[in-house]
Amino acid sequence: MKKGSLTIVGTGFHPRQMTIESADHIRNAEKVYFVATSLIEQWITASNSSAESLLRFYGNNKNRLTTYHEMVDEIMSAVRQGKRVCAAFYGHPGIFVYPSHVCIATAREEGYEAQMLPGVSAEDCLVADVGMDPGYLGCQSYEATDFLSFPRSFDCHSALIIWQIAHVGVFNFEFEPNRFGLKKLTEKLLEHYPAQHEVCVYLASVDPHVKHQEYWMPLSQLPEAPLGCSPTLYVPPLASPKADPEFYKDFPEAESADSYKHFKMTKRVYRRDLLSPQKELATKA
Ligand SMILES: C[S@@+](CC[C@H](N)C(=O)[O-])C[C@H]1O[C@@H](n2cnc3c(N)ncnc32)[C@H](O)[C@@H]1O
Repeated sequence: MKKGSLTIVGTGFHPRQMTIESADHIRNAEKVYFVATSLIEQWITASNSSAESLLRFYGNNKNRLTTYHEMVDEIMSAVRQGKRVCAAFYGHPGIFVYPSHVCIATAREEGYEAQMLPGVSAEDCLVADVGMDPGYLGCQSYEATDFLSFPRSFDCHSALIIWQIAHVGVFNFEFEPNRFGLKKLTEKLLEHYPAQHEVCVYLASVDPHVKHQEYWMPLSQLPEAPLGCSPTLYVPPLASPKADPEFYKDFPEAESADSYKHFKMTKRVYRRDLLSPQKELATKA
């Protein structure tokens, strides 16, 4: 192995969500780079004097891919200098973070030791805050532009999570949300769900003292949804799917099994009136 190494870590959305392992790597690296929320930035810069933000590579209307490759070049140049480098990205560093995967692949190709450590993602926070369980009826997760640009066969009877709804069809970095894109996404969803189907625009908290935000609305009102910061869309399943009679032939005991009864109960999990009382608090906050 060559001298020089790379560890990519996820920080979650605020310092209390950082894992002990990630925090150790940030403290002990010879060079730290980061893309982080404000409280995490404060924690990182206080923990390692070499820490440098990668946010300077973003620019309004600048092509996002150009920015990502500049980040890769910056991180890799420190690795090539033989340093023990740690790059920290908010949330999970491998979820919708192009430079992290390119850096790991490049470093390994060039003979450097490289690893990625997980972090708490927006989806993890959503599961906890909104009170949905991806294991009950399944869960599909798409990036919004990807979801619109490729004809998708997806299952309305499973949960649907759509990322980057504020920037549908936007290939340059832009601070302002793209309402036209959100309207087109809504039109696509309306081909599959009724207009009154309740959906949730979700914002994880970036401060442990402040509640997350979840805005529930009929799907038809999604184009007017509040889009502060970077929300994620949660579309609950329509209803439990119809069971396959062939299944009972092969597994006759399933009809009475506890786990299957539990499965049939899951429709209730998604009823708004049974959702966590935190939702009320969050919407009022
Ligand atoms: C570039 S991706 C980064 C995802 C991040 N790596 C993660 O693991 O959550 C940006 C997208 O993550 C989601 N996201 C970022 N911050 C969020 C927040 N505070 N609440 C909910 N979703 C968020 C949004 O879908 C946003 O468009």
